[in-house]
Amino acid sequence: MLHLRLVPLLSLVLSILTAAEDAFKTKCLNFGSRIDLPNVTVNFASYVPGGTNLSLADNPPSCDASAQEVLTDTCRVAMAVATSNRSQITLEAWFPRNYTGRFLSTGNGGISGCIQYYDLAYTASLGFATVGANNGHNGTSGEAFYKNPDVVEDFAWRSVYTGVVIGKELTKQFYDESFNKSYYLGCSTGGRQGWKMIQSFPDLFDGVLAGSPAFNFVNLLSWSGRFYPLTGPSNASTFVTPAQWSVVGDLVLDQCDALDGAKDGIIEDPDFCQPNVKSLRCDSNSTNSSICLSNAQLHTVESTYQPLRGVHNEALYPRMQPGVEAEAAYIMYGGQPFPFSTDWYRYVVYNNPDWDPLSFTSKDAEVALAQNPFDIETWNGNLEPFRQAGGKVLTYHGMADPLISSDTSKWYYGRVSETMGLDPSSLDEFYRYFRISGMGHCQGGTGATEIGNGLATLTSLSPEDNVLMALVQWVEDGIPPEYVRGSSVATNGSVEWTRKHCKYPKHNIYFGPGAYTDENAWKCVE
Ligand SMILES: *[C@@H]1O[C@H](CO)[C@@H](O)[C@H](O)[C@H]1NC(C)=O
Ligand SMILES: *[C@@H]1O[C@H](CO)[C@@H](O)[C@H](O)[C@H]1NC(C)=O
Ligand SMILES: *[C@@H]1O[C@H](CO)[C@@H](O)[C@H](O)[C@H]1NC(C)=O
Ligand SMILES: *[C@@H]1O[C@H](CO)[C@@H](O)[C@H](O)[C@H]1NC(C)=O
Ligand SMILES: *[C@@H]1O[C@H](CO)[C@@H](O)[C@H](O)[C@H]1NC(C)=O
Ligand SMILES: *[C@@H]1O[C@H](CO)[C@@H](O)[C@H](O)[C@H]1NC(C)=O
Ligand SMILES: *[C@@H]1O[C@H](CO)[C@@H](O)[C@H](O)[C@H]1NC(C)=O
Ligand SMILES: *[C@@H]1O[C@H](CO)[C@@H](O)[C@H](O)[C@H]1NC(C)=O
Ligand SMILES: *[C@@H]1O[C@H](CO)[C@@H](O)[C@H](O)[C@H]1NC(C)=O
Ligand SMILES: *[C@@H]1O[C@H](CO)[C@@H](O)[C@H](O)[C@H]1NC(C)=O
Repeated sequence: MLHLRLVPLLSLVLSILTAAEDAFKTKCLNFGSRIDLPNVTVNFASYVPGGTNLSLADNPPSCDASAQEVLTDTCRVAMAVATSNRSQITLEAWFPRNYTGRFLSTGNGGISGCIQYYDLAYTASLGFATVGANNGHNGTSGEAFYKNPDVVEDFAWRSVYTGVVIGKELTKQFYDESFNKSYYLGCSTGGRQGWKMIQSFPDLFDGVLAGSPAFNFVNLLSWSGRFYPLTGPSNASTFVTPAQWSVVGDLVLDQCDALDGAKDGIIEDPDFCQPNVKSLRCDSNSTNSSICLSNAQLHTVESTYQPLRGVHNEALYPRMQPGVEAEAAYIMYGGQPFPFSTDWYRYVVYNNPDWDPLSFTSKDAEVALAQNPFDIETWNGNLEPFRQAGGKVLTYHGMADPLISSDTSKWYYGRVSETMGLDPSSLDEFYRYFRISGMGHCQGGTGATEIGNGLATLTSLSPEDNVLMALVQWVEDGIPPEYVRGSSVATNGSVEWTRKHCKYPKHNIYFGPGAYTDENAWKCVE
């Protein structure tokens, strides 16, 4: 008897539970057809259960991402959004079941063209309603810029901005409770995009996490385009081999590693490092002619430690920070054109697909800078509107970044300080810059570099170990980050050692008595 009564009751309870569980899924599947916004065409809305290895069959091959593991139950909405009569963005909005009332926009990299699905997955798993766009074109090439300024405009600012405006509207429609706070996360070009929004749309975000920013953008591309003519191709007398760069790097480390008190293979503050590499000149004492430097090669090496200068000798972009010689040997110094730079000059500056990257001189840098389409430079030092709006920006840069010299973040900090007439303690109110020693471009490197700026560098959700959660705590609880703790992680995923990275302009000095790997053996000093 009991059984017979209980079975239907149980199944009723179960079906109610299932329906409740599925309300989110049902809402998701119905959501696509409810979207009615100008310029927006919905491609699909699909429910993706947490743990799915999502196939990204439509992702352009050059984006090199054919699958993404989705970590949490998510409603995935894919759209096309017209930005003019000859341009459009591909936009995705990911709405997690476990929503925290926070909206977030991701950014892009290089001169792509690629939705950063790993950032969507990361931030959705932390409960953010999150958007990512393709920056107005597909894939990693800049060819789409050719004779289409609207695509350049999308790239300069409109893709992120449009994605945020639409993303916020959809977040309001999807969640009855709307959203409370709005965030941004990006690195490299993504860092520039974050700064662009701060400068041009100061009300868009409550908090911006902008890493290794590609700001001073046109000059950055000139700087990265300058190395190929400097080194020449690999058969040129000016070319320096990877073995030679490695010797240069060892010498730089010899001269600069101990300046922070610790000979641990990591230069905490490249500012103090002014390499003298003349001792590497080939002479009668040289025992190995394949690792000493000819005069022409010495000139190549020394030039990398000088800023890019314009035709009037004005400094346009800082030197490469010393300490990255061995890595840069294969990229910037590799005797090849740097593709982003070549594409920019070919498809934007000169509208000439045959432009020769070996012909680059400072005259070209001047031409490109004068164009500065849609103010893509992203170099405005007046952040007063952002400050007035109550915005917070947490920015970081790897001190061993071989693609975007970390000196650029120092230059910008100084520029803002000067433009606004604010000293560091006043800037601290809304703008904090952390220097991550031993970090390469956005992640990786020999230092304690895992700071939670993405899925790949996540060790903890504690705000002290996670720059995104540090930003959230600053915005929502008014507790600003004093340092960023980075972890060095073994291949098996376990944290081996940690270091507290200092807030600029403080720098890290080793005092002991613990080992170099003891974070408490270090102090941030003026
Ligand atoms: C997801 O699928 C791709 C191929 O479709 C595969 O290469 C990758 O290893 C898978 N990832 C996981 C976490 O299973
Ligand atoms: C980019 O790729 C998507 C997906 O394949 C496609 O729908 C869209 O039209 C493409 N966008 C452009 C600008 O070619
Ligand atoms: C959602 O959040 C709850 C409580 O924080 C947690 O127990 C659960 O695992 C989360 N679910 C998913 C799918 O992330
Ligand atoms: C729709 O796109 C056009 C450009 O094609 C733009 O002028 C207009 O402002 C957009 N409408 C909205 C509501 O964003
Ligand atoms: C596209 O819009 C521009 C104005 O933004 C206009 O000058 C041009 O004629 C339009 N082109 C077409 C094909 O409609
Ligand atoms: C927004 O913040 C308020 C106040 O802290 C809170 O009660 C509410 O739940 C939040 N909304 C969402 C969507 O999280
Ligand atoms: C280097 O190689 C290129 C292509 O093989 C050739 O055209 C050029 O003359 C060479 N330059 C030198 C300095 O040997
Ligand atoms: C070669 O080495 C000797 C002994 O260390 C030194 O005195 C001399 O100056 C060196 N020659 C050059 C050209 O550096
Ligand atoms: C010279 O240096 C090169 C590059 O490090 C190395 O491969 C070679 O063995 C060295 N030769 C001698 C004689 O030490
Ligand atoms: C991970 O590897 C380190 C050595 O690299 C070792 O000390 C540690 O015990 C390992 N941890 C796990 C969980 O296997």
